[in-house]
Amino acid sequence: MGVKLEGYPGITGEQIKDALDFCNRQILHVLPDFTDKFQQAYSENGFYPPVENRDWTTGFWTGEIWLAYEFSGDERLKKAAEVQVHDFLERINNKISVDHHDMGFLYSPSCVAAYKLTGNKEGREAAVKAAEQLISRYHPVGEFIQAWGAMDEPGNYRLIIDCLLNLPLLYWASEETGDEKYRDIAEKHIHTAVANVIREDYSTWHTFFFDMKTGAPDHGATCQGYRDGSAWARGQAWGVYGLALAYKYTGRREYIELFRRVTEYFLEHLPKDLVPYWDLEFNDGDDQPRDSSSASIAACGMLEMSKYLGAGEAEYYREIASKIMRSVYDNYAVKDFEISNGLVLHSTYSNHSPYNTCDHKGVDECNAWGDYFYMEALTRMSKDWVLYW
Ligand code: GLY
Repeated sequence: MGVKLEGYPGITGEQIKDALDFCNRQILHVLPDFTDKFQQAYSENGFYPPVENRDWTTGFWTGEIWLAYEFSGDERLKKAAEVQVHDFLERINNKISVDHHDMGFLYSPSCVAAYKLTGNKEGREAAVKAAEQLISRYHPVGEFIQAWGAMDEPGNYRLIIDCLLNLPLLYWASEETGDEKYRDIAEKHIHTAVANVIREDYSTWHTFFFDMKTGAPDHGATCQGYRDGSAWARGQAWGVYGLALAYKYTGRREYIELFRRVTEYFLEHLPKDLVPYWDLEFNDGDDQPRDSSSASIAACGMLEMSKYLGAGEAEYYREIASKIMRSVYDNYAVKDFEISNGLVLHSTYSNHSPYNTCDHKGVDECNAWGDYFYMEALTRMSKDWVLYW
């Protein structure tokens, strides 16, 4: 509990209500354009174009609609989300762009949410099929789920830290079907991931490679961070939230201590306004873009973990999350339909550097998960929220 953030105000109940009210109105405002279509992963000059359901990110938009429905109970939202859930069922039935590990990002906030909130049967069917697809990427020798690419290619034999958020889908599938195979694979993957992606100083690797023949750990590397040895802000945030979820689902107490350390590293590298630059190597004074999505993701992780901690420590993480979200609300949230059709500005999808391997796209824009986790964090602070994860 080293980082105190004294003097920073938290977000108030009124502000949370105001923020969710705007989200609800913005989503209703754009819904006609984004019911049969989805929002692109990132906005262009503040505006998301409509796209087909192909990318790894479309579940976030449907998740935003469900969160808005939880807030307002407006039936138009439920109807639109149901159209999208049907599309997700078609997508998994026809195996359209599902040859990767992001089944949880796609199917938890869309289809698991639909089933939990409304008993939607298509949502349940789609999510169980997505879980089946996800475990098809499991490597029993290395004991991890491969992120991207063909499964028989040694250059693809790696996991990424983001995958921790894909695993709740497997716990849900075991719970629903009574088949332990999903949970067993999730457990193995968590163990392999946590043992390798966290460095000695509690910063994290984005991706980690293994030897395809023996399964032995080989080396860490970045894809979307600035350089191999730096800490990609969103990777660290996926680590914060991923460890909270890992503890929730496994009950392994060592994950609490790792959560504390990984979160501390994240907090110690925040700039003055508590919203990180895209890589934690950068700070105030650097001419670099922010990644506001990382702030909301980490806040969700702290709010989740606070449920399992003693009163004093729980309060510490809730207060920090509240202060971070105050800054996102004050300084980054969209408050006017005219400037954007999204919810949160100044996020970064992937920023190409001389030392990384990612495409350059969605830099200093809104993105689907930045909007979604902003709403999730606000919803968590407004009530005892039943997770979609
Ligand atoms: N999971 C990919 C990203 O966070 O950009």
